[in-house]
Amino acid sequence: MKTSPILLPSAFDRRRFLARSGLALALFATPGAFAEELLRTPKQTEGPFYPDKLPLDTDNDLIVVNDGLTPAVGEITYVSGRILDTSGAPIRNAVVEIWQCDKNGAYLHSRSGNGEKRDPNFQGFGRFVTGSTGEYLFRTIKPVAYPGRSPHIHYAVKMKGREMWTTQCYIKGEPGNERDGIWRSVKDEAQRAAITVDFAPLKDAKAGELAARFDIVMGYTPAA
Ligand SMILES: [Fe+2]
Repeated sequence: MKTSPILLPSAFDRRRFLARSGLALALFATPGAFAEELLRTPKQTEGPFYPDKLPLDTDNDLIVVNDGLTPAVGEITYVSGRILDTSGAPIRNAVVEIWQCDKNGAYLHSRSGNGEKRDPNFQGFGRFVTGSTGEYLFRTIKPVAYPGRSPHIHYAVKMKGREMWTTQCYIKGEPGNERDGIWRSVKDEAQRAAITVDFAPLKDAKAGELAARFDIVMGYTPAA
């Protein structure tokens, strides 16, 4: 799968304008003046349901808990992407965590709604540490709606010396997005698009698995 970088429209516009304005030559002498920055992924609230007790199994396969034989209930989805800085360089050693509710709307949290219906075979939380390519991968279920919220997957990115950074990933074409106050809190169209991705059938999948691609552009360059 190939993803194309998202460029700030304003960067294009500014360059086109300056090229015509006669200011261009002067600005070309300024290092970085024309750096094409990737659009930063908007931050979203952590919300109340980051697990208050982490599961014993925190790997990147949320469908199977430990050596369980019964998989989680839901549409199996491979969620992958890269953690990048605004120049497009991959960020390594970033700890990527996801958490989401199960098919019945229950989070891995003592105050979650529908806690009594929790699917014991859904891990609810997973963790992945990026390597030199900045790539992460999880196997999970397609997120479902719960009262007041459109389907979403919570993300946290943890890096040495930085505070935990959180966002949420949504399903493109999901009608509930328009009614979701947290999704709507992102006003900019391009920023909304950056957190709203396709959940599409995985090519040649034997059991109808889906795939979603969600790149995260952090608003800073990591220290070397
Ligand atoms: Fe949530």
